[in-house]
Amino acid sequence: MLALDLEDSDRNNLIRRSCEMLGAVGKFICAVKINRQLVLSLGLRDGVDTIVELVHDLSLPAIMDAKLNDVGHTNQFMTRSYIDTGFDGIIASPVAGWEGGLDSVFQLTSSLGKGVILLIYMSNPGAETLYSLKTEPADGKPRPVFELFAEMAVQWKASGVIVGATKPDIISRVRKLVGPDMGIFSPGVGVQGGDAGKAIAAGADYLIVGRSIYDAADPSDAARRHREMAM
Ligand code: XMP
Repeated sequence: MLALDLEDSDRNNLIRRSCEMLGAVGKFICAVKINRQLVLSLGLRDGVDTIVELVHDLSLPAIMDAKLNDVGHTNQFMTRSYIDTGFDGIIASPVAGWEGGLDSVFQLTSSLGKGVILLIYMSNPGAETLYSLKTEPADGKPRPVFELFAEMAVQWKASGVIVGATKPDIISRVRKLVGPDMGIFSPGVGVQGGDAGKAIAAGADYLIVGRSIYDAADPSDAARRHREMAM
C-alpha cells in the first residue's frame, strides 16, 4: 500500500506530482493511503477528490489515514466527509473506545459498505510507552494495551489492523489474537528501520510504504521491489 505523503507548497504541483507518482507505481501496489497532510494541503473538494478518482481509475482502493480518535459526532462527521470524497476505507485509533467513540464510525461505514482499519501498534520508538502498557481489565486477565486493541478489532469486525513493521514479535502476537483472516497492514519499513521480510514472516499481509518508494530515484522499481518483499 503506497503512503502518498508528498509535500509541495504549490497545490497544482502537488496534484500533478501525486498523479505522476500513481501512474509510475500503480501496477505494483494494492491500495493508496492518503494522510491528513495531503488533505491539509489540498482540501477535499477539487483537491484530494481528484487524486482519489485517479486511484479508482487504476482499480485500486483509496484509504484515508485519519487515525480517528474523537467523540462520536465529530468522528461521524469526518467519516462522512471522507466517504463523500470517495474513500473506500478509513483508519481509526481504538483509544476512544466503542460507546460514543467509534460506534458511529463502524455503524456508518458498515451501512455504506466501507471499511475501518484499526491502529493496534505504531511503528515509532515511543509507541511502546502506551501500546505495551500492562493493563488489569475487568476480566481479571492482565495484558498489554495492544492486546486489548486487537481483541476490539475482532469484536468490532474491523476490516484490518495496523501493526508497525518495526515490531515483528508484536505482529506475531496480534496475528494469534485476530486469527488468520484479518488483514495486518504494516508501516515502518525502510526509513523507519522496519524489515519487510521479518514483518511478513511474522504475519503481516501488506506493507505500507511511503518515502522508500516516492523518494527513490526510480519509484516504479522501488514499488516493484517492495511488492516482491511482500509476496
Ligand atoms: P514511511 O515514509 O515511513 O511512511 O514509509 C509510513 C506511512 O505510514 C504511516 N505510519 C503509520 N500509520 N500507524 C499508522 O496508522 C503507524 O504506526 C504508522 N507509522 C507510520 C505514516 O503516516 C506514513 O503515511
